[in-house]
Formats: sequence, structure tokens, C-alpha cells
Amino acid sequence: MSDERKDESTDLPKSPKWIWPFWTAVFVVLAFLIPNSWISDVKDVYGSDSATAFSSEVAALDDALLKGRPVQKTWDEVQRLKPQIMARRLARISKLSETQVGELTLLLRESQNRINAEATESGKRGQEKFRNEQIQSKFTRIHKAAIGPTLSKVERDIVANTPNGNVNAACENCHTSFMPNFDIVNPSPEDLWPRIPSKALSGRGLPILMDSLDLDAFKSGLGGEQSEFTCQTCHTSHGDKSFAVDIEKRRDAMGLWIEVYRIEDAVYVLAKVKNAGASHRAPGGYIGRAYAVVVEAFEGDNRDGTPLPHFYGERLPEVLRTDSMQAGTMFWRRMLDAEGNLTSDHRKATKITDDSRLLGDRFVDHRYVFKLPEPEGKTAYNVIVRLVYLPDYTTWEGSEDVEVRIFKTG
Ligand code: HEC
Ligand code: HEC
Repeated sequence: MSDERKDESTDLPKSPKWIWPFWTAVFVVLAFLIPNSWISDVKDVYGSDSATAFSSEVAALDDALLKGRPVQKTWDEVQRLKPQIMARRLARISKLSETQVGELTLLLRESQNRINAEATESGKRGQEKFRNEQIQSKFTRIHKAAIGPTLSKVERDIVANTPNGNVNAACENCHTSFMPNFDIVNPSPEDLWPRIPSKALSGRGLPILMDSLDLDAFKSGLGGEQSEFTCQTCHTSHGDKSFAVDIEKRRDAMGLWIEVYRIEDAVYVLAKVKNAGASHRAPGGYIGRAYAVVVEAFEGDNRDGTPLPHFYGERLPEVLRTDSMQAGTMFWRRMLDAEGNLTSDHRKATKITDDSRLLGDRFVDHRYVFKLPEPEGKTAYNVIVRLVYLPDYTTWEGSEDVEVRIFKTG
């Protein structure tokens, strides 16, 4: 049997062993000989990368970013070229004519200006979403699902490959942001931020994002090793999945401890808080955010009982108070508008009165006293202490309990 098969196969004409390597070599040589203009013609139809659509400056920069090589340009220069890089990335994955590439670049540049003009992350995200939708509707050849991820990757590549490997500088570009034409007087910037060199603050206006300044100011804090920390020691860059500071991260970073005891008709509550995870003050980010310690005390053994009157200790700002939520302390940058009302919107602010945010690795204690209805007796009571994160410190909307401690008698 096996002999028969052998005979059959020897009947077939056999090509020499070297024939495939030979043709491959011929193709490679030919590919080098084809004039460049032919290639760009073809590429104009099948994914544009022609020298005319993108300057060699943009192409070289983008290639470096794609390969993860540090780029030889300043942050500002890269930002200026970002819309072109984004257009190039989208063109790489879709068929676009040169005219379309031009239109796309223009759209990306205009949306970049709008994104930059927004002060908050949610505002920026809204503009990004709007940009992606515009691209979707105008350039139907670009695959819908690819737009967001492709453009986020550009941002990520830029941050990761900023000159000098100085990641802090890349972040600082935004994470030290001021609203100009805002005078800080009484308290002065030196009173508010004694650790930050006054030349970093004076005459620049209201700092609405100051994580980078904070990080510099607290170098000697957290474990003494902090000078080694960059933003990316703890955060990945924008666009990355694990980037958002979520409730889990806050829980890991923030500590809350309580002590409760009764003397006659008074219930004493001691709340200790610590920012054990952030090198900058907490909360980081936009000026309108806050952490709050909220202390509630009730008769009985749950929150259905009558609230005990708050007798001593700090109180929450009026806009946040409810029947039972009176006692509490804010960790925030408190701003007032022209009428002297509390505002979390820097555009309405005319004054900043404090920065009581939590320093890295420091305990902060606050005491609160509540009154029981009768001096002796056996009234049962319970105390609930929460550390709450407020994305907007003028409302409970969107707030999250980071830590909760409950004390009950008996
Ligand atoms: C183009 C401007 C810009 C650059 C550059 C930038 N950021 Fe941001 N980032 C922002 C803004 C604006 C926010 C929103 C702050 C807020 O809303 O509290 C933000 C938010 C964040 C947040 C919180 C996000 C969340 O969802 O919880 C982190 C963490 C952060 N940035 C880290 C970084 C790091 C690390 C770098 C550098 C590698 C960096 N950023 C560079 C503008 C920027
Ligand atoms: C040692 C770790 C560490 C370093 C270094 C660090 N952060 Fe943070 N960051 C945190 C933690 C933990 C939080 C959450 C606690 C809080 O609200 O501040 C946070 C919160 C933030 C927030 C607010 C996010 C939100 O939604 O509350 C921003 C923005 C931010 N960091 C930016 C930066 C930037 C920019 C740098 C560099 C200048 C930096 N961080 C350096 C740990 C760090």
C-alpha cells in the first residue's frame, strides 16, 4: 500500500525547493523599487497615509508615539499637532480621501478647542462625546466603534511619551489650572497654602485644579518617600480603564475612626479622619469637590428614632443640613459668590475662604456633642458617622459614603 502511494506522488511535476523563497525575495526587491508616488496613490484609496495629507513632522511624531518612543517635542507642540495625529490614526483604519482628511482635521481641531475650554472632566467628556458623534455622522466610512478608543489611545500615547519622561509636567499642564482675574485677599494665598511657594500662586488667579502644586508641596509627607512619586505612581493616564478614582480607591485611601461616650446627658463623639493614600490633599481634582464627616445621633437603636439635638461641634453648611444631619465637618476649598452665598462653581466665585482638605498621612480629629433628653436614665441611643465624598459640595446629589461607622448602646 504505502509503496503504491509513493509512486503516485512521484508522477506529479515537482517545483524546486527554492522557488518560494525566490519569489518572496523578488517581491521584496520590487517593493523597494516602486516609486513612492504610486504607493501614496494606492494608500489614498485604501487608508490614507500620503505624504501630502500629513506633513512629515506629524507622521514622524505619530510613528514615535505609536512605537512608544519618547518624542522630541514639547508638550505644547504635541498638543498643537494632536488634531492631525488623531486624523492620521482614524485615516489609518478607514478609507478617506485627502479632502476628507482635511475636513476631519479641521473638525478635530475645533473640538479640541472646545474640550480645552471646559473646566471639568464631565464637561470635557461631554465635548468628547459630541466630537465622536460628529465624526460618526460626517465620516460614515470610519467605523463607529473605533472612534472613541482610537482617539483615547492618542491621548494616552501622548501622555506616556512626553519629553524628558517628565510625567508630572504633562499632568501639571492641566492639574495646575487657574481662573485668571481673580484676586485672593483676606485670607491671602500664603494663609491658604503656606506650603506652596507664593510665587507659584501670586497673580495667577484662583487655582481650580491644583493637584500638581499640592504634590510638590507635600513631598516630605507620606512615608517620606513621596518625592519619588509621580502622578502615575498612583494613577494611570486619562483614557485608561483603571483610571477613574472610584469608590474602591477612595475606600482604600481614606480612613475613619470614631469614639463615642456618654457623660450625664451629653453624648460625645470623636471622629478621626486620615488621607492615607493620596500625596496631594484630598479631595484632589476640581475645586468644587469635598469630603464631609457627617455625624448623626438618634434615640433608640436605629435612625428611625428622634434625632438628638446637636449641642457642640462643627456644623455642616446650611445647604446640606437636614433634620438629623446638622453636625459635620467639611474638607474643601470653600468659595463664596458675590452675594456671599456658598458656591461650588468657580465661575461664580468671588472669594475663597479656606482650604481645609486633608493633608497626606495626617490624622484630623473633630469633636461633636449631642444632648440626651434626660440626664441620667437609660435612654438608648445610636450614633452614625460617615465619611462622604461630594462631587459638588452644595448638594448631596451624586455623593457617596466612603466609610460608615455605627455605635449603639447596649
Ligand atoms: C488636558 C488637560 C489634562 C491633562 C493633560 C491631565 N489631566 Fe487629569 N484631569 C483633567 C481634568 C479637567 C480633570 C477633572 C477634574 C475633576 O473634575 O475633579 C481630570 C481628572 C483627573 C483624575 C480624576 C479622574 C476621575 O475620573 O476620577 C485623575 C486621576 C487625573 N486627572 C490624573 C491625571 C494624570 C495622572 C495626568 C498626567 C499623566 C493627567 N491627569 C493629565 C485634565 C487633565
Ligand atoms: C500616593 C498616591 C497618589 C499620587 C502620587 C497622586 N494621587 Fe491623585 N489621588 C490619589 C488618591 C488615593 C485619590 C482619591 C482620594 C482623593 O479624593 O483625593 C486621588 C484623587 C485624585 C483626583 C480626584 C479624583 C476624584 O474624582 O476625586 C485627581 C484629579 C488626582 N488625584 C490627580 C492627581 C495628579 C494630577 C497627580 C500628580 C500631580 C496625583 N493625583 C498624584 C492618589 C494619588
